[in-house]
Amino acid sequence: MTTSEPLQPVPAPARRTVVAAVGAAGLAVALTACGSSDDNSSSSSDTQAGANASNGGTAGGDASASASSGSGGGTALAKTADIPEGGGKIFKDKSVVVTQPASGTFKAFSTRCPHQGCAVSSISGGVIVCPCHGSEFSVTDGSVKKGPATTGLTAQNVTVSGDSITLA
Ligand code: FES
Repeated sequence: MTTSEPLQPVPAPARRTVVAAVGAAGLAVALTACGSSDDNSSSSSDTQAGANASNGGTAGGDASASASSGSGGGTALAKTADIPEGGGKIFKDKSVVVTQPASGTFKAFSTRCPHQGCAVSSISGGVIVCPCHGSEFSVTDGSVKKGPATTGLTAQNVTVSGDSITLA
């Protein structure tokens, strides 16, 4: 019978194919299971480990920087010695201006001018100056010293601990 002969060899290869396919599928399942369990249990540490590995020497610097900022419970801004008495300093990247109206007294305000939203850019003569239309604000309490702004700068919370100023 010519019809039964071709049928007999077919099951054997077919069986091998099935076994091989199951084996591959089993491997794939095992790999997938491993990957997903890693992701679920330790994705953050995996990411950090990868970053550390790729960054090499810079990873140590990042770690110490975050440790020092974390110790104060906020974002470390500056040392008290960095803030001139009777004036202040603008931290553009933090959108905050820190002033020292009197020795040992520190205040902080948003750099956003309440007039039209420009960032204040300089401090001189006891006032914080907006470059856009010339509004001036007191370093003491952020109040308007000169318009066109009609309201003062928004106060921000800073904490002074020892010689460190931290943005709350
Ligand atoms: Fe500051 Fe106009 S935006 S003075």
